[in-house]
Amino acid sequence: MLSGYSALNFGHLHPEVVQAAQEQLGRLTLTSRAFFNDRLGPFTDALAALCGKDLVLPMNTGAEAVETGIKVARAWGYRVKGIADGRAKIVVALGNFHGRTTTIVGFSDDPQAHDDFGPYAPGFVAVPYGDADALEAAIDDDTVAVLIEPIQGEGGVVIPPDGYLRRIREVTTARDVLFIADEIQSGLGRVGETFACDREGVVPDVYLLGKALGGGILPVSAVVADEDVLGVIRPGEHGSTFGGNPLAAAVGLKVVELLQTGRFQERSRQLGEHLRAGLERIEGLTAIRTAGLWAGVDIDPALGTGREVAERLLARGVLAKDTHGQTLRIAPPLVIRATEIDWALEQLSVALKG
Ligand SMILES: Cc1ncc(COP(=O)(O)O)c(C=O)c1O
Repeated sequence: MLSGYSALNFGHLHPEVVQAAQEQLGRLTLTSRAFFNDRLGPFTDALAALCGKDLVLPMNTGAEAVETGIKVARAWGYRVKGIADGRAKIVVALGNFHGRTTTIVGFSDDPQAHDDFGPYAPGFVAVPYGDADALEAAIDDDTVAVLIEPIQGEGGVVIPPDGYLRRIREVTTARDVLFIADEIQSGLGRVGETFACDREGVVPDVYLLGKALGGGILPVSAVVADEDVLGVIRPGEHGSTFGGNPLAAAVGLKVVELLQTGRFQERSRQLGEHLRAGLERIEGLTAIRTAGLWAGVDIDPALGTGREVAERLLARGVLAKDTHGQTLRIAPPLVIRATEIDWALEQLSVALKG
């Protein structure tokens, strides 16, 4: 019921993903990015089409995709928008989780992620999540991008008010600022759509993808955007020894092909309703937030902490994970069956009783 924080959206060892990996293992696994490999092009073409964008820059981990997105936004700010050197500013949201590199933890307000890892990189301004007015007010002439999770995962599956993403789209367009959506945990079928931004019919300028893109087999991440944005990076300015390697590209291509069928998005939508209805019948939850097959539930403190309930669930054979004290995060693989959801929810019901 956690799916490796959405890295296992297709379950463990999905046969089609395993087959793609095995075939590629028998052919070629790594070349220098300086040289052509015949898997990278098909992967980036398919992923660009899935996102409706021109270009894909493949990396490995999610944090690397976020770092790459930050570099792209800054270079775009200096080279296209004409911002004075060293002044580029990025607006982020409080409660964010974008990874654990030194730049990224600098703009986290979670003490566990942030404290004692400074000095922190400047150039980030954090505003309350879900507050479009605050976000708009934080944008000034030096702002190059707004970087947000369309649903905050680590924050506890925090779903912003309806219209928030549309407002960000309008404001960023009006102020000539890039809208960067970190869909690393929320994307690729998790919420009943390909992307969480689809829930509001919004297309960001930049998608950051990771986790499920590697099919649960190896780390694959990507930055996806149009030529006028991603094209600002010149040859030699950015790269990765392993990013876009033939094995990763073969797996990533298979993942995109699975998503192209729409089957997983549909399952997530339908079973997500089943999950929601089941959660609503359970006593002892003070809040239920769901989007597709993704749920954050807050546990009545009288019944235990999120951690305690997660451990009781573990003892009953269900792996789910607490976050931020009272919240339990539930993210089953998109291949789960309704009967399996029912069983897991029965265990939750019992676990809440102590
Ligand atoms: C929204 C989001 N962005 C970025 C990351 C970082 O990904 P990785 O752990 O692969 O570096 C995570 C990981 O949990 C995440 O949830």
